[in-house]
Amino acid sequence: MKIVMLGAPGAGKGTQAKMLADQYAIPHISTGDIFRANIKEGTELGKKAKEFIDAGALVPDELTVDLVMDRIDHEDCKKGYILDGFPRTINQAEKLTEALGVKGGDIDYAVNVDVPDEAIVERMAGRRMCPNCGASYHVVNIPPKKDGICDRCGEELITRKDDQPETVKKRLAVYHEQTRPLYDYYKEKGLVVDVDGTKPMEEVFQAIVSRLGE
Ligand code: AP5
Ligand code: MG
Repeated sequence: MKIVMLGAPGAGKGTQAKMLADQYAIPHISTGDIFRANIKEGTELGKKAKEFIDAGALVPDELTVDLVMDRIDHEDCKKGYILDGFPRTINQAEKLTEALGVKGGDIDYAVNVDVPDEAIVERMAGRRMCPNCGASYHVVNIPPKKDGICDRCGEELITRKDDQPETVKKRLAVYHEQTRPLYDYYKEKGLVVDVDGTKPMEEVFQAIVSRLGE
């Protein structure tokens, strides 16, 4: 099963993608996570991506498309995958469609996690991330068992640099301008699954699975 996650920054794409990856035993591929890992390791890609991410802008397609095309060619993607944060521009979506079309296929679903802008800033302000395993928490909605510590690996949680309110507003503007058009792109193909992302995360998850099948 090949799934694309759609939705605003902070809508819960990553949270749901991780649960879906477990459910269907397919890899969760998050371009944001890949960029953050590269920034942490100080790679050339990380250095280039950092200035765009910190400013709330998109990383240029030249740095993004080939990276994802290579990744989905790996052996572990044979049964499918969940793309989280890619595609994010019409150009990226067309490149993905083209690459899959060559093999005679396409994605199966574009899951749109819908959360209004008003709820987003509050979610981002409360988000805490594990810099080691990538787990995501929210201080009020999804708190870790022990304050400030990752349930999964025990690492100290951090706040993402691009979660400051001003940067979040910029990311939302970029989303509406460049990424939201993907909704219509996949709607026309009949692939969109809409879910209400304001519901508790388990409910959102059940809503998605009930539409995709066990
Ligand atoms: P990326 O990491 O993809 O960030 P994003 O799309 O802005 O989305 P987030 O990861 O912030 O949010 P999310 O939807 O995953 O929500 P989460 O599950 O964490 O990208 C970062 C940057 O990298 C971009 O700005 C760009 O610069 C660059 N980039 C990445 N991909 C790119 C591409 N393809 N092209 C160009 N540039 C690219 O949830 C958010 C919070 O809400 C958490 O605290 C969570 O615990 C909480 N929460 C989740 N679900 C619920 C719920 N149901 N109820 C209450 N709280 C919830
Ligand atoms: Mg995410």
